[in-house]
Amino acid sequence: MRETLIFGPAFQAGGGLATDPLAAVAALPDDAEICGCNGVCKGDILKSIAGGANTLEAVRAQTKASASCGTCSGLVEQVLAVTLGDGFEAGAAKPVCGCTDLTHEDVRPLIKSKALKSQPAVWQELGWKTPNGCHVCRPAINYYLLSDWPTEYADDPQSRYVNERNHANIQLDGTYSVVPRMWGGLTTPDELRAIADVAERYAIPTVKVTGGQRIDLLGVKKEDLPDVWRDLNAAGMVSGHAYAKGLRTVKTCVGTEHCHVATQDSMGLGVKLEKLLWGAWSPHKLKVAVSGCPRNCAEATCKDLGVVCVESGYEISVAGAAGMDVKETEPLAKVATEAEVLEYGAAFIQLYRENAKYLDRPYKWTAKVGMDWVREQVLGEASRKALYERFKVSQSVYQKDPWAELASKEEARFDPMAKLYTEAAE
Ligand code: SF4
Ligand code: FES
Repeated sequence: MRETLIFGPAFQAGGGLATDPLAAVAALPDDAEICGCNGVCKGDILKSIAGGANTLEAVRAQTKASASCGTCSGLVEQVLAVTLGDGFEAGAAKPVCGCTDLTHEDVRPLIKSKALKSQPAVWQELGWKTPNGCHVCRPAINYYLLSDWPTEYADDPQSRYVNERNHANIQLDGTYSVVPRMWGGLTTPDELRAIADVAERYAIPTVKVTGGQRIDLLGVKKEDLPDVWRDLNAAGMVSGHAYAKGLRTVKTCVGTEHCHVATQDSMGLGVKLEKLLWGAWSPHKLKVAVSGCPRNCAEATCKDLGVVCVESGYEISVAGAAGMDVKETEPLAKVATEAEVLEYGAAFIQLYRENAKYLDRPYKWTAKVGMDWVREQVLGEASRKALYERFKVSQSVYQKDPWAELASKEEARFDPMAKLYTEAAE
């Protein structure tokens, strides 16, 4: 029977089976599974290497290892390193895509230093090999430009992934999922009635409570999306950006309003944080939580930004993860007031927005730049206030509800079928 390894990232970080990951990988039998998504074992990868594959990309192309969630990429690279020795440079920075030899780490500072403010300027000035970029580089360059020049660059929807273009997550069967924002996880009877009405009106088959303390309407037909958005908007709800590289949720526990051991108003603070942070495009999705005491019912210590309330104030920690990787947050600061939580939190997110590689979650980015540097930037008063100011400038442009904008435009209706449907209904 094939041996299944349950050691992905924790193992790669040095925990788990052995203190020397390469020695552990060398000792694995050929039938040890390296890529769980695609059922690729070590022997398959060795055969691919013996056949000439000497990079992660080549092994991926031949075996599918690392081609899905990507969690096993480090392990595949370790098999390459063990087999090829010095001939393989694991984790070397790679070009953004085939359009350029530059890496993300090259491109971000060049956009700033050369004051490149449009995609054609980037392609031309940085010697892109293709005339208009591709589906890999365009979302990244579009993000870097809107992050660096929020008041000068106009976001390009054609350089976004399909879910961001459609402001909803496409599902397995081609229908969409719609998630209205519930500030701090709070809702009202009126909102719940409106959601129930929408679910019935558009025959939405599945209504599910999410892990982020909100409600997901699953199975929405594409042509119904603008009407669903309009009806939810009319009940006072906005997009929850469940599809976006940006703020998803601020999870809260009930705090002083209902809990006898709470130290602070975690629900109130969570709502304030969400109202400050929503709508900010980021290198990747962002999850935030506020717990009213160290019992941590909102699980703040595995979020991108977490706040744990204590008697004397608020402990802010960052760079946690609870997905493909699991990681506890690292302390950022302890502050005395809610206003400081908002300023420190937004400054951290702005630092991440301005510096991280596209598609790096905060925990991956902080591992590269080091928490010492991050703390220096956020704790230093002048740099923190400057970051906070830049965040607010960006929000003045980008903090807007896409549902309200799109539902009001006829062109938001995606295809002729939808147009016919609308006309028939009028
Ligand atoms: S984290 Fe603390 S304050 Fe919040 S609900 Fe749990 S016990 Fe109560
Ligand atoms: S475990 Fe290999 S791609 Fe997901």
